[in-house]
Amino acid sequence: MTRTLPEQHLSHPTANGGGYGEEQEPHEGLLSPLGSAIPPDEPEEDFGTDTETLRSDYDEEYMETYSLSSSILDYQYENGRRYASFRSGHYLMPNDEEEQERLDLTHHIYLMLMGGELFNAPIKNPQKVLDLGTGTGNWAIDFADNYRDAVVVGNDLSPIQPSWVPPNVEFFVDDFESEWLEKMNAYDFIHSRNLAGCVVDWHRLIRQAYDHLKPGGYLELQESAVWAWSDDGTLKMDSPLMEYLMALNDAAHMIGRELNIYVDLKPWLIAHGFEDVHEQTYILPFSPWPQDPRLREIGRVQAVMVEKAVEAYGLRLCTQVLGWGQDRTRIMQSLVREQLKDRSLHSYTKIKVAYGRKPLR
Ligand SMILES: C[S@@+](CC[C@H](N)C(=O)[O-])C[C@H]1O[C@@H](n2cnc3c(N)ncnc32)[C@H](O)[C@@H]1O
Repeated sequence: MTRTLPEQHLSHPTANGGGYGEEQEPHEGLLSPLGSAIPPDEPEEDFGTDTETLRSDYDEEYMETYSLSSSILDYQYENGRRYASFRSGHYLMPNDEEEQERLDLTHHIYLMLMGGELFNAPIKNPQKVLDLGTGTGNWAIDFADNYRDAVVVGNDLSPIQPSWVPPNVEFFVDDFESEWLEKMNAYDFIHSRNLAGCVVDWHRLIRQAYDHLKPGGYLELQESAVWAWSDDGTLKMDSPLMEYLMALNDAAHMIGRELNIYVDLKPWLIAHGFEDVHEQTYILPFSPWPQDPRLREIGRVQAVMVEKAVEAYGLRLCTQVLGWGQDRTRIMQSLVREQLKDRSLHSYTKIKVAYGRKPLR
């Protein structure tokens, strides 16, 4: 079951033996195939490139039916956290206020790491932009603010985006793992960030993005490793943090929603026919341990974010997939948080940002 991480050869307990135990039966919801709450839709006809309208291409009837219907707002509560009910069980993380704060912090961290830039792709004069799994919509809102001539569409399983937004941004409740309803060849730029653990079939997702980009348009994927390193041996493989990360990695693998896909971004873009593919790696310290003042400041914010991430990433995976009891999960999570507060620990993770251009023909 264990997926060996591409950048690290591990020898560690698997979900079937060793460290994890079997306190509860794994939950059906996360393991079941994609639900059928919404019937599959016919693929959209290819209308060719549309530069005349700045409206998004979502089908009106579909949006009337599924935007903010009561079932979408009828959240689910588990272990003290709130989760999306739309496509229930497919997304592992909560959507409550605490999680929204974490997403806002993450947005801030990415901006700090990327020198204030929202993306790396060399896009010019974008007219239509799509943000997949937009979360609280911060990226889409900032993009819309910076590019007033563009229409920016953000989709998500949860309607957790603010309503006071720039006039050129639109948010929709939608499942990007379904057949996309927008026109083909419609977007100048498609962006996704931190969707690790959300996607069963990345190849299908990238193929859909390719098809819905205009020729010459860019796809940019921004992902964090859900992993940790240290260069000075202060992070031990048998420490709570590494045990926990290995457990999460295995659990996500068991339900087919891999967490550590950050290494695959560039090869995927190349394999799907994108040109001019570039990738940049950013080092993200888990706490303010670096000497460098910029990284130190980033580490300060990351420490606050990661304290929340420990639960957000792992609560469902541990209790529902690995079958850990609540107590065991909570104890493990507090050990991880304690370890992360230790100033002698010089740990970091990696962010990869990869982009590529759809060929002109
Ligand atoms: C970790 S959050 C990242 C949010 C945002 N991209 C950011 O970087 O701030 C992942 C988001 O993807 C959304 N998501 C997960 N699976 C999805 C799906 N199949 N369709 C649409 N949104 C999805 C979740 O609801 C969540 O808001």
